[in-house]
Amino acid sequence: MSRPAFEDLANELDVAIAAVDSLPEPARTKAKNATEALERFFSEAVAQQVRILRDQVEGGSAALAALAADPLVRTLFLATGVLRPGPTERAERALDLVRPYVRSHWGEVELVRVEPPVAYLRFKGACDGCVGSLSSLEDVVGQAILAAVAEVERIEVMDAAAVVGDRDAPVAMSATRRHGGTWLEGPRFEDVPAPGVLAWRAGERNLLIVSHQGSVSCFENACAHLGMPLDRATVGSDGTLRCPWHGFTYDARTGESLNLPGVQLLSYEARVTAGRVMIRLERR
Ligand code: FES
Repeated sequence: MSRPAFEDLANELDVAIAAVDSLPEPARTKAKNATEALERFFSEAVAQQVRILRDQVEGGSAALAALAADPLVRTLFLATGVLRPGPTERAERALDLVRPYVRSHWGEVELVRVEPPVAYLRFKGACDGCVGSLSSLEDVVGQAILAAVAEVERIEVMDAAAVVGDRDAPVAMSATRRHGGTWLEGPRFEDVPAPGVLAWRAGERNLLIVSHQGSVSCFENACAHLGMPLDRATVGSDGTLRCPWHGFTYDARTGESLNLPGVQLLSYEARVTAGRVMIRLERR
């Protein structure tokens, strides 16, 4: 018997969720409660499987990495919190939430790409080129993405005729993150091994300062794979940050995973001022 296709399973799920959403109250609330209880049950079961594979099975970490590369399992890992979604996946989720609103008013919106600190969007249909839709963008779509993706600081709208990958095509800049956040004084830059990492605690936050070729970056001190601390991570001459636990590698400057596209470390803006590493506590 052939296995069902990933898309078929996803469609089946969408249909079932839509059916629940269309139920009258109180049946809808009861059905949603049952769904959420099932989700919690399966999330814990998945997390327990990961823990056992990671801690008790020889070669379990390699098996986990292989599992996470499978689209179906990866979706399950993302949905249950085993893997942390990257900026593109978070932006897509944010768009999914506002898409019904966009459709009901103007047309269609598409996420072209996310290249922090910019997310590129394209509008199609009735909203394309409409001044009204662009001004509404900041309030609805732009703010939804800014709220969901801390790495994104501004939204650019592409020409509807531009093809994906055309980097010269943005025609308007709209929503921009309102910078807040406090700059925190971190360690002396000379105390950060170069190249290397230094764990730094800021109140409740465990941070990781990374130095590579004179530049500094700052991440939450938790690997995006299984959340283990990165205190003993190494930085290679090629600019890769390597987790000591199961060997996941990241771009030392951006925190982007080199093993799993779309997954990355949570990052904070960092700079060196008067020999001190300064960290802005708002996540990027
Ligand atoms: S915790 Fe597994 S590679 Fe980092």
